[in-house]
Amino acid sequence: LDEPELKLPHPYLTQRAFVLRPLRDIVPNLVISGAPVRDWCQSIGDQDVSPAAELANPWPLQMIACLDARRGIGYRGELLAHLPEDMKHFRALTEGNVVIMGRRTMESLPGKEPLANRTNIVLSRTLSAAEGFAVCRSLPDLWRELGRLHIEEPQRSFWCIGGAELYAELLPYARELHLTRLKQSYEADAFFPAFPGFALCSSDDRGACAFEHYVAADRLLKMKI
Ligand SMILES: NC(=O)c1ccc[n+]([C@@H]2O[C@H](COP(=O)([O-])OP(=O)(O)OC[C@H]3O[C@@H](n4cnc5c(N)ncnc54)[C@H](OP(=O)(O)O)[C@@H]3O)[C@@H](O)[C@H]2O)c1
Repeated sequence: LDEPELKLPHPYLTQRAFVLRPLRDIVPNLVISGAPVRDWCQSIGDQDVSPAAELANPWPLQMIACLDARRGIGYRGELLAHLPEDMKHFRALTEGNVVIMGRRTMESLPGKEPLANRTNIVLSRTLSAAEGFAVCRSLPDLWRELGRLHIEEPQRSFWCIGGAELYAELLPYARELHLTRLKQSYEADAFFPAFPGFALCSSDDRGACAFEHYVAADRLLKMKI
């Protein structure tokens, strides 16, 4: 095709990331001018392109939370309980991965420091920057950032770690929930949302708490087919 507004193949096909990277995702072995697409991608260096928000694929988004018997998760900006076993469980699942949190949860972290050995993302409309965090100002902004991270290192998983506002907002996009269920009830002013579309897959009772794993029912159906 050779028209004033569109020429195909693109005249700079072997030099432009916005042409090569989507092509590599579809047909990495396609040979162009004597070399496979994936080799051309390596030769073009660091061109800053990322999928458009509507094309980013942030799945599977996972959630991890610690809930009391009434789905309470926090009081006056703090957690309801600090169980060493739960902290260990949290670290084991999230280390090496990407954690996504709301601004108030970020401010509740010791020293407002990012969690070690994880890529930290904070959602905020008020913060312009935070040392050690990528700041996303909206959900489309978050999808763009996750799309970029996914392309960079597809093996990393994405974890929403709270708080109440973020859990409620991101639940429709979540595919798995890892919930620590405290047997006791506490005074709480922040709650995990109801999650009717999820099915319990496993439960590991540890006395004071139980580690539960839920999967979105529509995904479970697909897995069974
Ligand atoms: N038990 C658990 O597992 C657990 C886990 C995490 C947190 N918590 C508890 O939960 C409580 C905090 O929860 P919370 O609901 O008050 O706050 P939060 O969800 O941590 O943060 C809310 C803030 O996130 C930002 N935000 C939310 N949606 C956004 C969007 N679409 N775009 C841009 N920014 C967005 C806003 O920040 P700006 O105001 O800056 O715009 C908003 O004020 C604390 O008590 C904490 O200890 C418990």
